[in-house]
Amino acid sequence: MADSATSNAAVAAPRATPRHVAIIMDGNGRWAKARHLPRAAGHRKGMEAVRAVVKAAGKAGVEYLTLFGFSSENWKRPEDEVKDLMGLLRLYLRKDAHDLHRQGVRLKVIGDRARLAPDIQEQLAEVEAMTAANAALTLVIAISYGGRDELVRAARALAREAAAGTLDPEAIDEAAVSARLFTDGIPDPDLLVRTSGEQRISNFLLWQSAYTEFVFVDTLWPDFDRDAFAAALDAFGRRERRYGAVV
Ligand code: FPP
Repeated sequence: MADSATSNAAVAAPRATPRHVAIIMDGNGRWAKARHLPRAAGHRKGMEAVRAVVKAAGKAGVEYLTLFGFSSENWKRPEDEVKDLMGLLRLYLRKDAHDLHRQGVRLKVIGDRARLAPDIQEQLAEVEAMTAANAALTLVIAISYGGRDELVRAARALAREAAAGTLDPEAIDEAAVSARLFTDGIPDPDLLVRTSGEQRISNFLLWQSAYTEFVFVDTLWPDFDRDAFAAALDAFGRRERRYGAVV
């Protein structure tokens, strides 16, 4: 594991650039509504913001960028909207995979892939395999992802191993839980940004964000560009992280 929750529980000097930035991309619908456009138009514009932020993150020296693309709760949206979002994901994987590869981006998807259409599962596996050795930036896309679902799965995995006698329950520590999450091997996010003025975590990276700095901005996701990203990094740079300690 790269960084366990335990190893993060120490006082860290402020870092100019966060190593891992996570983003809840919110406000596509409101962006479209304000322009009397269908919600799908907001999601399409949101995809352009994804492209801009991936580039900006790479340039800024961010090592991991995690984007909340589709939550486990988003399946409850109208069928047409789910179709639109899945269509955009297909398009992104088809159109942008080679660009990402050229930029040295490694793609990793977290979430319940089994709920995705088989062709999307295949595409994801292909792009992950193609970009696996890239090292400039790891782009983690959370799709059909829920933080509680992830923790339930980890609990089940631990229980299974304990029942099989391959794991001593007393030996279960924070690192053991971390290692059974979708994010195994990925350091915890230093900075979590949520756009569109909402100030909640919405079941995103619940375990991983124990010591994360939160930055909430009013900008709607489709308007979030490289300047907005740079401003969020600046806000992070001004925070003092204590991890519960007195300094
Ligand atoms: C939230 O806006 C956004 C989403 C549920 C989906 C995010 C998807 C994209 C940015 C497009 C494609 C992304 C990838 C990774 C290919 P909302 O619809 O909840 O907006 P609202 O709160 O204003 O209604």
